[in-house]
Amino acid sequence: MAIRLDKFLADHGFGTRSEAKKIISKGTVKVDGIIIKKADSKINESSVVSVDDVDIVYKKFVYYLMNKPAGYLSATKDNHQPVVLDLIKDYRKRLSIVGRLDKDTEGALLLTNDGKLHHYLLSPEKKVNKKYYAILDKALPENAKEILENPIEFKEFKTRGSMFEKIDYNSAYLTIWEGKYHQVKRMFEKIGCKVTYLKRVEFAGLNVDDLKTGEYRELTKDEIENITKYKNKNL
Ligand code: URA
Repeated sequence: MAIRLDKFLADHGFGTRSEAKKIISKGTVKVDGIIIKKADSKINESSVVSVDDVDIVYKKFVYYLMNKPAGYLSATKDNHQPVVLDLIKDYRKRLSIVGRLDKDTEGALLLTNDGKLHHYLLSPEKKVNKKYYAILDKALPENAKEILENPIEFKEFKTRGSMFEKIDYNSAYLTIWEGKYHQVKRMFEKIGCKVTYLKRVEFAGLNVDDLKTGEYRELTKDEIENITKYKNKNL
């Protein structure tokens, strides 16, 4: 698919379209070894583009992992409140959020323009793991594990169970394989506890241990290879 040179540069971290245009007009951008000064020149996937003689590898898909801070909506746009995309400096316009977190929830959030992966990661059949760390307003009851690990019936769905790991009297890890609205909070409500702090510590095998709250990074090659296995129909 052919795309405009200024769009290609903007998509690869060289600022906005107009900033990319300025770079192009300086004569530092080459396509297949030839200096190109026209921002609307079309390039394709096999074109070798360089800026200051450094080649830029064509990336069709981008995958960002964020350690979401509380106070941000898992949305791409909102007229009144901050959204997670505000934190991503060089984002592509078509980035979407895979598996939303509540405004007050922190932790692992994946953003990508890979629509097919997005679809598969949200499909219940894929059983993508989501591990949460929760602090509760009171002591966990004796039977917390038994109740939470067995299917729980809600009005609109039934959980497939979970994996519950108690940390201390009022905190625990809970791993689930679905991602229904307020699911973790609602599950803890079933045992009489209110969640006072929630962080997703793992999503589809990805953790945010190396990211401070509010930071994000691109997935590594190995992580992309691992996560895109979910596109495989048999997984
Ligand atoms: N479950 C919740 O209750 N909230 C989240 O943000 C994610 C899962």
